[in-house]
Amino acid sequence: MNITEQLNRQIANFQVLNFKLHHYHWRVSGPHFFTLHAKFEEWYDRAAAYTDDLAERVLALQGEPPVTLQQCLGLASLKEAAGGETAEQMVRTLAEDVSILISELKETAAEADEAGDRPTADMLTDFQTELEKDAWMLRAFLA
Ligand SMILES: [Fe+2]
Repeated sequence: MNITEQLNRQIANFQVLNFKLHHYHWRVSGPHFFTLHAKFEEWYDRAAAYTDDLAERVLALQGEPPVTLQQCLGLASLKEAAGGETAEQMVRTLAEDVSILISELKETAAEADEAGDRPTADMLTDFQTELEKDAWMLRAFLA
């Protein structure tokens, strides 16, 4: 996969994650409702912002970002929410998703850096920094 294709996979991932986080925001229940309901909202807003940054980078590189849900589902490494998850299962699933995102972002950032594409590498590294903080918080919740 070239850089643009890898960025398109990340767009697809963050679209799936955005949908999943809405799903969880609406369906979470139990004693952690207020915390998780608010946290999922914060995260889907960020997933949407990442999607836009990635798509505009793809356009700047003269590529074509995916623009339909169907395209995104075909490209994404992340899976949609299964439905019926407990709050803990939601957090567990998100921890797995975040670890997939971090490793793919790292891989693409390294390739972009090697290709002399610093703006892409820097953007992905910024996302990685934030996602690694999320990964710590998710681990702390599950500990
Ligand atoms: Fe809401």
